[in-house]
Amino acid sequence: MKKIKISPSILSADFSILGNEIRRLQKAKADLIHVDVMDGHFVPNLTIGPPVIKALKKYSKIPFDVHLMISPVHKYIKDYALAGADIITIHPEATKNVNSSIRLIKKFKKKVGLSLNPNSKIDIIKKYLSNIDLVLIMSVHPGFGGQKFMPKVLNKIKKLKKIKDENKLGFDIEVDGGINFLNSKLVKDAGANILVSGTTVFKENNGDLKKNIETLRLF
Ligand code: DX5
Ligand code: ZN
Repeated sequence: MKKIKISPSILSADFSILGNEIRRLQKAKADLIHVDVMDGHFVPNLTIGPPVIKALKKYSKIPFDVHLMISPVHKYIKDYALAGADIITIHPEATKNVNSSIRLIKKFKKKVGLSLNPNSKIDIIKKYLSNIDLVLIMSVHPGFGGQKFMPKVLNKIKKLKKIKDENKLGFDIEVDGGINFLNSKLVKDAGANILVSGTTVFKENNGDLKKNIETLRLF
């Protein structure tokens, strides 16, 4: 089994001191830094873009796991690659040609992820699975932190893990939204190996990042 990785979402961090928050995540041994990019169009919320990512990169060597909730996404891929994203995840609904967006991300030597909304079926990404590094399964409707985990996605994770094993594919299975200390085990048992977490990492145990990251990883 692959080692479980935790990708804390800075959506729940203190936006007035983001550089310091990245440093704290590094100290707390986060595996990745999850950056939620929202455009107020593909999702009903707005966050940050390439200049902020570029500025934050100086604060840590931890890979930046950039989740693009923007549409149309294709013309902005270059900006995120140059800003320093290490993994670029897009939603297939947000591009006219998924293959060409995958190719573009790879051209910049970045890892490629495809994300599935809670109501999106595996079928829409099946033909790309041998060509990507990661599938990001949304366990809430994208747009906001602090929402409730949707247990119905557990079946989708299991199904995806089965397809992955049967075809001996190497992509990571990452789950995003509402992950807490009670459902993390269910998500891992279903087959996920990367857990995104904003609220739990930043708010539980009075914001003890190290403890929260370790607990999510181990339990
Ligand atoms: C939702 C984002 C998630 C979210 C996770 O659109 O993609 O990354 O911030 O935050 P929590 O853990 O609070 O659900
Ligand atoms: Zn996300």
